Amino acid sequence: MPSSQHVGWRKVGKISVGIVMGSTSDWDVMKHVAQQLKDFGVSYDARALSAHRSPDLLFEWIDECEKNGVQCFIAGAGGAAHLAGVVAAKTQLPVLAVPMPSKHLQGLDSLLSMVQMPKGIPVGTFAIGDAGAANAGLFAVAMLALGDKAMADKLAAFRHKQTEAVKNAKLPA
Ligand code: RP5
Repeated sequence: MPSSQHVGWRKVGKISVGIVMGSTSDWDVMKHVAQQLKDFGVSYDARALSAHRSPDLLFEWIDECEKNGVQCFIAGAGGAAHLAGVVAAKTQLPVLAVPMPSKHLQGLDSLLSMVQMPKGIPVGTFAIGDAGAANAGLFAVAMLALGDKAMADKLAAFRHKQTEAVKNAKLPA
């Protein structure tokens, strides 16, 4: 799984967003988070770590991310998708959740597992699949833009370009 701005497991360096997914099989969707962050020049570390299969490694990574200055986490998982909730249990930082379109229930299982968090430990859950992944990336950009004028300007330019594309869109004859 590519991670363009990958930092070593124990190296200290600035990362703004921690991206985690339950399996390498989630990358095809989660790459859309990474692409949005790359487009805005946001540094991230992306890992495949499971709440079920590798909880200790997950906790270690969360700890390293916090030391490296991460501002929020984005977690993608499928099926009985506990990953985002487990990340949120271990950190006070905002956690965004992307439900994977699972094989048998098309992601409804992932969505409900993520969105139905009990009171007290919130996660912000996005749409199932690619759109949710891209929007989680954009949401992280919007959060970072609160304290970063250059990022806010980039976001405004992105939104303007998107609006212009709608304005100029032509339906096929
Ligand atoms: C979850 O189980 C992962 O997030 C993935 O969406 C799903 C299937 O994982 P693999 O069996 O493909 O590794 O934990």
